Amino acid sequence: MNHDFTAADDPFALFAAWFKEASASEPVDPNAMTLATIGEDGHPDARIVLMKGWDRAGFVFYTNTLSAKGRQLAGHPAAAFLFHWKSLARQVRLRGAITPVSAAEADAYYATRPRESRIGAWASRQSQPLAARGDLETAVADVARRFENEDVARPPHWSGYRLTPTRIEFWQDRPFRLHDRIVFEGAEPDWRKTRLYP
Ligand SMILES: Cc1cc2nc3c(=O)[nH]c(=O)nc-3n(C[C@H](O)[C@H](O)[C@H](O)COP(=O)(O)O)c2cc1C
Repeated sequence: MNHDFTAADDPFALFAAWFKEASASEPVDPNAMTLATIGEDGHPDARIVLMKGWDRAGFVFYTNTLSAKGRQLAGHPAAAFLFHWKSLARQVRLRGAITPVSAAEADAYYATRPRESRIGAWASRQSQPLAARGDLETAVADVARRFENEDVARPPHWSGYRLTPTRIEFWQDRPFRLHDRIVFEGAEPDWRKTRLYP
């Protein structure tokens, strides 16, 4: 699946193939992606998150819903995701609408996280000012005490978002910057494929 990928007509099958290859070749976090959102000031914002699940319904990440990105997505429920797999000289760009995952879906994923991460989700007021590292450590100790001998439930402010793509672009490096690009536009199962100049 190197230079023949432009013949693909199913963006999800192509993503599956590329993600499998990235999972084998990237030294760390093949699921790391840039999440771009629209800031509350109307300007773009971006940061890395981990893609924790995908299927034909969309691509999911988890976060603190009261964070900057959470507030931005509440105001403008649309986003772009960008994967860059350096080891393969590839990128995949996705754009689409954002919907919150169900409580049951978030609970199921939360339950797979290490206990320390679940405690951290309670202790971190993500994206708010933190006067000193010690304040975070105190908050972690307080939460650990509070949940001593019991399961650390999912905080109400911690959940996931799903991007349902309406545009998926695949980019493969080629010599002399004469790269291959194909973009799929539409929605499941009707995609229109276009080749783009590099
Ligand atoms: C490799 C990597 C993975 C990350 N994964 C996540 C993630 O899955 N969820 C998350 O909320 N933040 C993640 N972060 C931290 C975010 O980049 C960001 O600092 C944080 O979410 C606050 O963003 P905000 O202020 O725009 O809400 C990750 C950072 C890196 C570098």
